[in-house]
Amino acid sequence: MPIHGVVPSTKPTYPLHFDLESVIRPNILALHPYRCARDDYQSGILLDANENALGPSIPSAALDKEHLDLELHRYPDPAQVDIKSRIARLRNLPGWEYVFLGVGSDEVLDLLMRVCCTPAKDKVLTTPPTYGMYSVCGQVNDVALVKVPLTVEGGAFQLDLPKIKSALESDPLIKMVFLCSPGNPTGTLIPLSDVKEILELPGFRGIVVVDEAYIDFGGDDASASSLVESYANLCVMQTLSKSFGLAAIRLGIALAQPPLIQVLSNTKAPYNISTPSAHLALSALSDEALDIMRQKVATLVASRTKLLEDLKELAPLGLAPAIGGNHANFLLVPVLNRAAGTPDSARALKIYTRMAEKEGVVVRYRGNEFGCEGCLRMTIGTEQENEALLERLKQTMAEI
Ligand SMILES: Cc1ncc(COP(=O)(O)O)c(C=O)c1O
Repeated sequence: MPIHGVVPSTKPTYPLHFDLESVIRPNILALHPYRCARDDYQSGILLDANENALGPSIPSAALDKEHLDLELHRYPDPAQVDIKSRIARLRNLPGWEYVFLGVGSDEVLDLLMRVCCTPAKDKVLTTPPTYGMYSVCGQVNDVALVKVPLTVEGGAFQLDLPKIKSALESDPLIKMVFLCSPGNPTGTLIPLSDVKEILELPGFRGIVVVDEAYIDFGGDDASASSLVESYANLCVMQTLSKSFGLAAIRLGIALAQPPLIQVLSNTKAPYNISTPSAHLALSALSDEALDIMRQKVATLVASRTKLLEDLKELAPLGLAPAIGGNHANFLLVPVLNRAAGTPDSARALKIYTRMAEKEGVVVRYRGNEFGCEGCLRMTIGTEQENEALLERLKQTMAEI
């Protein structure tokens, strides 16, 4: 069955073993997306969408000019082609047809799972320790997780490719693989050669999703977006929440070849990106704003290097060197048992709680995650915040 909105092509897609229509659920393939009059007509006297002709109920005096110009009483643009075009240009993709926008990458993740996986039947593969929403989303959608843990020797987190391949080849119900690069909480980039090995695996007919929420902190040329034009079975997720500093506007991104993007667009709620969010996203993607984003990323990367160095001072108090790749805007640091010198999750949890409740510094306890025994995850803050973290962690560790 052809995908609604995709012009059938006789050109073979690569890799040859991949057929998008066999991965997408039949009910989604059959879907005729919601259409509104505004898809065809955007100007004139607009009496088509049951909006409030008298405008927003917020007093005009409380709205600045910018908000008044946004026409808040109108539904947002369902397509957001301008934002998509700027993202395509930023990530070196041919055009807006390669870009989907969601309410954070969390919505993109949920939508991908819903279009590919039949509840109570299909599965997804994850590689713990990894981002917690993959399993939450699996549970919400009644999609089972096949877990192939990363190898964790020496704190260097790597994909266990032989085990991933054998899991994928032996279980045709696995429809998607979620790879997180740089990983949360590992902070480790996945080499593109590893991603390609999974993309090329003939026995796996599903989609490889690479979650790149932190990619801009990982250096140039690290992004799997460079593979999107070549591989029909790849979907790269990104977000404006991290490097762009816009977590509040909830703007997530999928980069993939146009047929998969079309499937996501057919399935989404018609007006998922709000007008204020779209307005701010467009501003954040101007050339001037992109320069600012890159400067801020460079500052945070320099602070990350400094914090890594400064945390060594706490070694006598039982703080081990950070583990993982340190390619994101956070560090993953094991707290040790002072007597035994081994990672100590109970002590880490006490330090975490004391820091939050008495010292006013909230980090994240990750000691329960596979391969992260005793670990605290610390986001890189401002210079002053990092100094406060260091000082208060030192004090707390001296007491606990
Ligand atoms: C790996 C990873 N992916 C996705 C997200 C969610 O991003 P968004 O704010 O775009 O929903 C996060 C947030 O912490 C994350 O760590």
